[in-house]
Amino acid sequence: MAFFITIFIIFLCAFTMQLGNAADNNFNTYYSYLWGSDHFSVDPQGTEVQLKLDRSSGAGFRSKLEYGSGLFHIRIKIPDKKTGGLTSAPDNQAPGNHFELDFEFPGTNGSMITNVFDNDSGHREQKFQLWFDPSKDFHTYEILWNPHQIVFFVDNIPIRVFKNNMAQGITYPSTPMHIEASIWDAEAWAGPVDWAQAPFIAHYQDFGFNACPGDVSKCGSQQYFWNGPNYWELSPAQKQQMEDYRGKYITYDYCNDHSNRKKECSFNV
Ligand SMILES: *[C@@H]1O[C@H](CO)[C@@H](O)[C@H](O)[C@H]1NC(C)=O
Ligand SMILES: *[C@@H]1O[C@H](CO)[C@@H](O)[C@H](O)[C@H]1NC(C)=O
Repeated sequence: MAFFITIFIIFLCAFTMQLGNAADNNFNTYYSYLWGSDHFSVDPQGTEVQLKLDRSSGAGFRSKLEYGSGLFHIRIKIPDKKTGGLTSAPDNQAPGNHFELDFEFPGTNGSMITNVFDNDSGHREQKFQLWFDPSKDFHTYEILWNPHQIVFFVDNIPIRVFKNNMAQGITYPSTPMHIEASIWDAEAWAGPVDWAQAPFIAHYQDFGFNACPGDVSKCGSQQYFWNGPNYWELSPAQKQQMEDYRGKYITYDYCNDHSNRKKECSFNV
């Protein structure tokens, strides 16, 4: 229902350093089915995936490779049945210390959460009330991750930055990550699901992205455009745009919450 990038530790013997060719948008080039087989479907051309949630199961898919930097995006249309209690959040297969960057939709009312797990258990939520209805049309959700910054974009609008503040003693993601997407029942924390409305179907498109497979230490090169100087920080126009959108649409920011505020909040301005 949303996509998130999560650490997954596997040891691959050989990496082919091939670049994703974003001109190819075929699901099968980049991803494979992960769980909930009879609730997962992909069209024969590999251009659209549907994940279905009902009482019996949700479903998910994951990138075939793990990556050390990149500009990741996917188009999503979330289910149009009004309900609470749906999310795409990870089901905490790796609780505790890990890296993860998330977009989550807790229900279908236009509320969207971003979160960052920084080798810990997260709690860096920033919530937005989207300026469109995410169940009406496809929208693009994108994450830039390079040695300088992590940026969350919605329809090309930057809404959140997590800078590399290692010089300030703040951890920065340094292990390869997968991209995962899933829909599952989160009644426990996102409120009740109205099962009479099931099944809930999330649609995904536009699977191509540009990223460097492999170790973070080998993925910082400027041969990759997303690591170049133009991507080291937002342009003045982008900063202004981010400030405008955050001013209007943010509904919760851990940095403004005394019980959750963390060290990086002083540097991420
Ligand atoms: C949307 O639903 C979520 C989860 O139930 C809730 O936290 C949020 O406050 C709701 N937003 C609005 C605008 O109703
Ligand atoms: C993550 O945290 C653990 C435990 O605090 C630490 O041992 C490990 O070195 C950290 N890893 C990274 C990549 O920062």
